[in-house]
Amino acid sequence: MGTQQHTRWATIVNFALAVAAASAALCLLVIAPVACHTAPANAKRIGQPPSAQALTALGRAIFFDSTLSASGRTSCASCHDPRHDWGPPNARPVQLAGRAGATPGVRAVPSLAYAQDTPPFTEHFREPDGNDSDDQGPTGGRTWDGRASTAHEQAELPLLSPFEMANSDRGAVLARLRASPAAPAFRAAFGAGIFADSIAAWKGLLLALEVFQESPVDFYPYTSKYDAVLRGQAELNARERRGLALFNDAKKGNCAQCHPSAMVRGAFPQFTDRGFIALGVPRNPNIPANANASYFDLGLCGPLRGDLAAHREYCGLFKTPSLRNVSRRSVFFHNGAFTRLEDVLRFYAQRDVRPEGFYPLDNAGRVNKFDDLPPAYWPNVTVDPPFDRRRNGEPAFSDAEAADIIAFLRTLDDGYRPVSTGGEQRSSPR
Ligand code: HEC
Ligand code: HEC
Repeated sequence: MGTQQHTRWATIVNFALAVAAASAALCLLVIAPVACHTAPANAKRIGQPPSAQALTALGRAIFFDSTLSASGRTSCASCHDPRHDWGPPNARPVQLAGRAGATPGVRAVPSLAYAQDTPPFTEHFREPDGNDSDDQGPTGGRTWDGRASTAHEQAELPLLSPFEMANSDRGAVLARLRASPAAPAFRAAFGAGIFADSIAAWKGLLLALEVFQESPVDFYPYTSKYDAVLRGQAELNARERRGLALFNDAKKGNCAQCHPSAMVRGAFPQFTDRGFIALGVPRNPNIPANANASYFDLGLCGPLRGDLAAHREYCGLFKTPSLRNVSRRSVFFHNGAFTRLEDVLRFYAQRDVRPEGFYPLDNAGRVNKFDDLPPAYWPNVTVDPPFDRRRNGEPAFSDAEAADIIAFLRTLDDGYRPVSTGGEQRSSPR
C-alpha cells in the first residue's frame, strides 16, 4: 500500500471526524433534549469517527439497497454487479433504470474495480516523482469523461440522475434512507440525530459509499494469475507469454502504452494510465439517444461534462479503462459498440486497414469512418500504434496473435486457483 493510499485514508478519516463532530454538535445544540438524552450510546460517540469497518458494512448495505431508488427496483449493484466485476450484468450497451425502471442510459456501465488510486481529474498530468516530466494531458477523475473528481463526488450522480436512481433531490434520497433497512446502522455510525441534519446525513451517505468502494477484498483483491506471476507464485503458459509480449510490443499491440502492464515502484499494475484518448469507436445504433442523428457523445468536451466544451481538441476523448477482469465483461467501450473481446481486438488491429468492417457506408458507397464523431474532430483520433496502418495494408497483428493477446487478458481475471499439478499446489487449501 503506497503513500497515495495512505493520504486517501487520512482524508477519509478527517472527513469522518468532521461529519461525526457535526452530528455531535448538532446533538448538543439542536436536538439535545430529545434525541441525545434518550440515546446514551450516542453521547459516547462524540468526537469518535465511525470505524472504517462500520462504514464499509454500511456502504455495502446502501450499495445493494434498491429502496433508495425512485422505482424501488434499482440499486447501485443493478448496474455494477459484483458477479460481473462490478460492471454491467448483461450485454446491453446502456442499462434501463430511472423513475419507472425503463429509462435507458446513454453510456455503458464501467467496472468499479481497481479504481482506488484514480487521481482527481487534471488537464495536465505529470508523474508524481518526475521533476520536469512530460505533461501527459488530461488524466483521472471518475466516469468516462472524468467529470466527478472522486468516488465520493461520483456517488451523488446516480442517486439523482433521471436515468439511474432518479431521486428528485437529496431530501428524497435521505427520506428513503431513513425508511430503509440501513437506517439503524446509519444512526449507529453517525449518531442518533443524524437525520435531523440533512447536510451531515448527505455527507455520511456519500462517505459510506466511498469507503465501501475502497474495500480491498471486494474491489481490488489482486488475485489474478498475472498477480501470482508477479509474486513469483505462478508462470504464464506459452500462449499467455506470447500474448503478453504482443501486448507490450510497441510495434504490435502497443496496448501497454495506455494500459500499463508492469509494476511501478512496487505497485501492481492497474492496466490503465487513467489518460483520455479518442479511439474513434463506431457509433452504436442500439443506444436510443443515437436515434437523433445530431446527438454526439463527445466525452471530455460534452454534453454530459460542461466545463471543457470550448476545448475542440478534447472532443471524442474518453478515459482509458482498466483491463483487469475485462474478459468477464460482455460489452466494451464507452458506448458498448462491441460485445465480444475478439471484435475489440480486431478493431485495434484493423480499424485503418479494413474500416468497412466497422463503419457503415455513406450514400455514395464510401466508408463513413469515425461515424460517431463530427468530421471537425477527426484529427483528435489517435494514430499511435496499433492505429498506424494504411488502408488495405498489413494489420498490426493477426487473428492468431489477437487470440494470444486474449489468452493473456484472461490471466487478469481475479480468483485464480493454481491447477493441482504437483508443485503448484502451495496456495490451494488441499
Ligand atoms: C442505471 C445504471 C447505474 C446505476 C443504478 C448506478 N450506476 Fe454508476 N455508473 C453507471 C454508468 C453508465 C456510469 C458511467 C457514467 C458516465 O461515464 O457518465 C457509471 C459510473 C460510475 C462510477 C465511475 C466509474 C469510473 O470508471 O470512473 C462510479 C464510482 C459509480 N458509477 C458508482 C455508482 C454508485 C455508488 C451507485 C449507487 C449509488 C451507482 N453507480 C449506480 C451506471 C449506473
Ligand atoms: C492509445 C491508447 C490505447 C492503446 C494503445 C490501447 N488502448 Fe485499449 N482503450 C483505450 C481507451 C481510451 C479506451 C476507451 C475508449 C472508449 O470507450 O471510447 C480503451 C478501451 C479498451 C477496452 C474496452 C474495455 C472496457 O471496459 O470497455 C479493451 C478490451 C481494450 N481497450 C484493450 C486494449 C488492447 C488489447 C490493446 C492493444 C491491442 C489496447 N487496448 C490498446 C486506450 C488505448
